[in-house]
Amino acid sequence: MKADPNDLVRYTAEERVNHWVVGMTFILLALSGLAFFHPAFYPLTQLFGGGVWARILHPFLGVLMAITFTAMYFRFHKLNAITPVDKEWLRRVGEMVDGDDHNMPESGKYNGGQKLLFWLLVACMVLLTLSGLIIWRAYFSDLFAIAIVRFGSVVHAAAAAFMIALIMVHVYAAIWTRGTIRAMLYGTVSRAWAKQHHPAWYKEQTRGVK
Ligand code: HEM
Repeated sequence: MKADPNDLVRYTAEERVNHWVVGMTFILLALSGLAFFHPAFYPLTQLFGGGVWARILHPFLGVLMAITFTAMYFRFHKLNAITPVDKEWLRRVGEMVDGDDHNMPESGKYNGGQKLLFWLLVACMVLLTLSGLIIWRAYFSDLFAIAIVRFGSVVHAAAAAFMIALIMVHVYAAIWTRGTIRAMLYGTVSRAWAKQHHPAWYKEQTRGVK
């Protein structure tokens, strides 16, 4: 994409690589995990070299996602601190969904919805990682009573289903808000995009610049 000197930088290359490693491992985990969840999805194991390989690879991919998500957490958690403006934004989210975002409270780099999603993702990741370790038969399950392993399986499936739904919302919002995907692909956004969707961040970025 041709760079416009007026564009604003939203993500560094490191942030984008971190995000896409998480995104790609998430897709691989969802595909292999669904294959274990219901026989209708079992053919998905073919993508991983069959059932045995899917079963071996899934937890290692989970470890990769947990590590890379933790890196992302430390990059973004301060920017996702929820403020009174975000609470007001969330209270009035209906107006935005109806297509009228003109009177919404001014969001900074992230709006209330993005921040709420961030913390829900963090909660899912913690639950998935802990329950995933407990039900990892090859290494850890023997350390726990069978009732705990069974409970771990339920928590793992529920947190995974919830996280898949959250990521669907995340991807839908990224596509629906035109001009957002390029932020994560090329690192920049147009000034018009920033002014419309994140006015407080726009003001902060352009302070003192003509
Ligand atoms: C696989 C498809 C995905 C797509 C197309 C996608 C797209 C995007 C885009 C365009 C942004 C920039 C939004 C903005 O700057 O306003 C973004 C930000 C972000 N994404 Fe994704 N993403 C995907 C998967 C994921 C996954 C799997 C996770 C985590 C589990 C994730 C976590 C985040 C976080 C934490 C941010 C920064 C926003 C914040 O901190 O509130 N994304 N994503």
